[in-house]
Amino acid sequence: MSKASKHIRELLPDFSPEVAIILGSGLGGFAELVENATKISYRDLKGFPQAGVAGHAGQLICGTIGKTKIIVAQGRAHFYEHGDATVMDPVIKCFKQLGCHTLIVTNAAGGLNTDYNPGSVMIINDHINFSATSPLIGKEGNERFVGMADAYDPTIRERLMTIAEYENLDAYEGVYMWFTGPHFETPAEIRMAKMLGAEAVGMSTVPEVILARFYGMKVAGLSNITNLGAGLSDESLSHEHTMAMAGKGAKKIATILKAYLTEGAL
Ligand code: HPA
Repeated sequence: MSKASKHIRELLPDFSPEVAIILGSGLGGFAELVENATKISYRDLKGFPQAGVAGHAGQLICGTIGKTKIIVAQGRAHFYEHGDATVMDPVIKCFKQLGCHTLIVTNAAGGLNTDYNPGSVMIINDHINFSATSPLIGKEGNERFVGMADAYDPTIRERLMTIAEYENLDAYEGVYMWFTGPHFETPAEIRMAKMLGAEAVGMSTVPEVILARFYGMKVAGLSNITNLGAGLSDESLSHEHTMAMAGKGAKKIATILKAYLTEGAL
């Protein structure tokens, strides 16, 4: 067991989380829904990356939502901060060691499906790794050859879509394509991404999903569509724009996840 996992066990000996959630840019407010919350700064967890992007707090929140015991990572480290796809490995490994069977990842993303406006939610059903790297590079043994079919658990996806439809939220399923960033894509890259079958583009998530599959966890992913991809509208893109536009979709993601966890995670 890693030092970070041991530290959490010692602090909260009776806490056995089932689901881990990573909150993306602009989604930090979800943490307020956690009941009986204990907060632990990444600074106190050996091996954890420091979250360096505005809007990412850099702490874990342990507690419950309804029937589900959860551990929430408020803030993630990105490949573009370090040039290292393994930067979230200690975090995902810690979730696994504490007993989580499922990882739910959230992110802010650019939408490519012009039938859906910014403020909508994409439930990720697959991804394209366009960054030509893997967080498993350097791992040993046959376990590193992880199958990635149905990486986004079909049963959880169906439940999340049912909740979104019931709540009348703008949600659709689609493929998330990972670009390293930190620059935004060019309009030509967005046209390419569309041609390749992506419906959202973003700068995170894929390394964590690969790691979670490596550790044998089920995965779900939700994208908060804060803008249309470059060239699909007149907006000029920036991190400030992402943060300013994040509220609407973040509320919808919080509604979906709250309902999912309250009923009891699958
Ligand atoms: N591209 C990449 N990442 C993003 C975007 C985008 O358009 N919007 C929010 N995160």
